[in-house]
Amino acid sequence: MDIIKLSDVSFSYDGKHNALNHLDLTVGQGERVAVLGPNGAGKSTLFQLFNGLLLPQGGRVVVDSLPVVRENFIELRRRVGMVFQDSDDQLFNATVYREVAYGLVNMKIAGEELDNTVRWALNIVGMESYIHRNPFNLSGGEKKRIALASVIAMKPKVLVLDEPFNALDPRSASHLVHMLNDINKTLGITLIFTLHDMDIVPLLADKVYLMDKGEVVLGGNLSEFFNQKDILRRFELRLPRVAHLAELLMRDGRLDEKGLPLTIGQAKEMIEAALAPKS
Ligand SMILES: Nc1ncnc2c1ncn2[C@@H]1O[C@H](COP(=O)(O)OP(=O)(O)OP(=O)(O)O)[C@@H](O)[C@H]1O
Ligand SMILES: [Mg+2]
Repeated sequence: MDIIKLSDVSFSYDGKHNALNHLDLTVGQGERVAVLGPNGAGKSTLFQLFNGLLLPQGGRVVVDSLPVVRENFIELRRRVGMVFQDSDDQLFNATVYREVAYGLVNMKIAGEELDNTVRWALNIVGMESYIHRNPFNLSGGEKKRIALASVIAMKPKVLVLDEPFNALDPRSASHLVHMLNDINKTLGITLIFTLHDMDIVPLLADKVYLMDKGEVVLGGNLSEFFNQKDILRRFELRLPRVAHLAELLMRDGRLDEKGLPLTIGQAKEMIEAALAPKS
């Protein structure tokens, strides 16, 4: 079942240039979807349509059977959690506790359940010890993790993350990959995210869309997507580093021509097979 469906969607900020241009896109329930594309492609604009922060000016957006129209705002916000590209757009409470509790309090959750949920969400992002701090005085990466916790606490059906890895150190980034995969698996939360680091995409995505100038120019499952090398090059998208290395070895005849490995694990298997003595 599709939890998100966009049909022929257009949007313009100024009435002259289309930030989104007749765009079609679907996301299945429980899927993990990466949206890639250069600066200005329209990724953040697209994401703001998912919970009604922006409304389509042409075409139709349906999320979890609800059309994205003004009347459905409250229900859409409940079902779609959004982690913004800039954490300063997200944080506005005086303590981390109140920040993470904010949406829950609005849902009339109180007492022990409130406390436990706040701690659960902070624990997921490794920030429990920051509970009494002021979010404004945190580092960029710490702010990102608090913003994430405040959204995860609501247990949305769809989690939309606009460049969640920006400002994260390698350890936090790896922790976040693990955590997102975990909540996708255990809570069935659908994930839609954008990022510029191609090495992370294979660790986190089932499906990938490439946007350019407000349009979806390529989409498919992970391995289909990265094996369309010529199209990716045309749009100046690079491969994951291990895939690029394998591509060079294939070009030199050192590895058999077949589907590119996308992760270190897949590359290791392929190289071990190539190194094994021929019987
Ligand atoms: N608030 C705004 N007012 C006017 N134009 C905007 C606004 N926000 C974005 N745009 C324009 O809309 C287009 C799409 O921008 P968007 O922020 O969606 O791109 P993006 O793919 O998220 O880029 P990035 O990778 O830099 O975050 C760009 O041409 C941008 O200049
Ligand atoms: Mg953006």
